[in-house]
Amino acid sequence: MAVKILMVCLGNICRSPLAEGILQSKLTQEKFIVDSAGTGDWHVGQLPDKRSIHVAKKHGIDITNQRAQHFNASHFDHFDFIYAMDMSNYKNILKLAPNEKAKVKVKLILNELFPDENVEVPDPYYGGDDGFENVYQMLDKACDVIAQKLTKK
Ligand code: 4NP
Repeated sequence: MAVKILMVCLGNICRSPLAEGILQSKLTQEKFIVDSAGTGDWHVGQLPDKRSIHVAKKHGIDITNQRAQHFNASHFDHFDFIYAMDMSNYKNILKLAPNEKAKVKVKLILNELFPDENVEVPDPYYGGDDGFENVYQMLDKACDVIAQKLTKK
């Protein structure tokens, strides 16, 4: 059975769509399912932000197949690993966890790179294009670590 990974941010249009696309590009589709969701519901059904689409494309990744969805408790049943982009997302995800087994699935994504430091992926929504490139670089490094761990025999 495929290992399932969910990337979560606030709007599911900037950070987590990038995280989804980047991690997917590092894993084989037969063995892994990568998806993303937002703790807020304002953008449900929408394409990723144009700036995320652009920065992903610049790095050879197409994320235009994605549509925003709202994170909910059923995601705990479906996914093995849930990665939050920032502490606010992390806390909001945990509030919906039905039990301890669900809680241990949730991690702050940059703790994969900087263990226990609780470094956040900054929300680039209100900033310029530089912010999106910065987010891309952070997520690319974190996803390298995640992909290595997941594919280690
Ligand atoms: P994201 O960025 O959480 O990385 O998708 C945001 C997108 C939209 C909003 C906030 C953050 N918003 O307030 O609509």
